[in-house]
Amino acid sequence: ATPIIIDCDPGHDDVFAIWLAAANPAIDLLAITTVGGNGLLEHTTLNTRIACTVAGIDGIPIAAGAAGPIEGRLRPADWIHGANALGGPVLPEPTVPLDERSAQELIRDVLLASPEPVTIVATGPLTNVAILLRDQPDLQDRIAAVVWMGGSTARGNATPYAEFNAWTDPEAIQITLDSGVDFTMVGLNISHQALITRDVRDRIAAIGTETASFGVELLEFFCSTYLKAENMPDGPLHDPITVAMLIDPAVATTVRTRIDAELTGTETRGATCVDLIDILGRPHNATVAMELDVDRFWALIDDAVRTLR
Ligand code: BDR
Ligand code: CA
Repeated sequence: ATPIIIDCDPGHDDVFAIWLAAANPAIDLLAITTVGGNGLLEHTTLNTRIACTVAGIDGIPIAAGAAGPIEGRLRPADWIHGANALGGPVLPEPTVPLDERSAQELIRDVLLASPEPVTIVATGPLTNVAILLRDQPDLQDRIAAVVWMGGSTARGNATPYAEFNAWTDPEAIQITLDSGVDFTMVGLNISHQALITRDVRDRIAAIGTETASFGVELLEFFCSTYLKAENMPDGPLHDPITVAMLIDPAVATTVRTRIDAELTGTETRGATCVDLIDILGRPHNATVAMELDVDRFWALIDDAVRTLR
């Protein structure tokens, strides 16, 4: 199994990334760390514990990381995820504890204890990852790869050109890229292929478990805000594509290319400039996910929900 740490900001789709990683035997989920993003850190951390509680996932350490981006202040995505970042279902009290360590300490301990390099799956702003690479560079050779949901080869969603996770912390993207760590970007260009159709929601509802019904409430809320915000009746389940690609690389096609983050720009700060035509001739520094095998992806999500309680 591939050992991973999930760094996340739940967030409706983050919850499914956690569930997929915990349920699928091809993944060894070693820890979960949280970051301010979709909601304030207190919410994303609480929501992580709730996501695990609901699905009966325990024994995986959860630690809180950065409250906001490296520069500027956090602007949570309440228009998509609601004021508590997990709008829709009634949220139970979590029974899963919060680790006393910071995210940076927990990641360090997990990397040092693992007999093999560990992949970091990041489904929020890259703040925690960038701080780790910047402040504990000696740990980099223990990181197998960073697989990040964020950015886009084309359009954005926080601004016309910037995707939300990228827009929240552009400096963190550039620090991560410049570190030379093995980096994969799963952007909006692929995540908008993972549409939560009525059929998808009905299939999950039919599973009939506690996890499934909580999950469907999340998906219904998420689709309703996507309808309002982006006129999309079927919202895109962005984050779990990262984990799905580690389980089964055939889930997505990829290209090697060059990414640089737009750090200035009066209109375009946070855009990920992906040089798909190599016009700049710069060395490639990233793998970018392109085409999703939609059926394979939803089959993995379906299986995961079925496996959990
Ligand atoms: C990303 O931003 C958040 O709203 C989602 O959880 C996902 O990580 C999509 O732009
Ligand atoms: Ca997220």
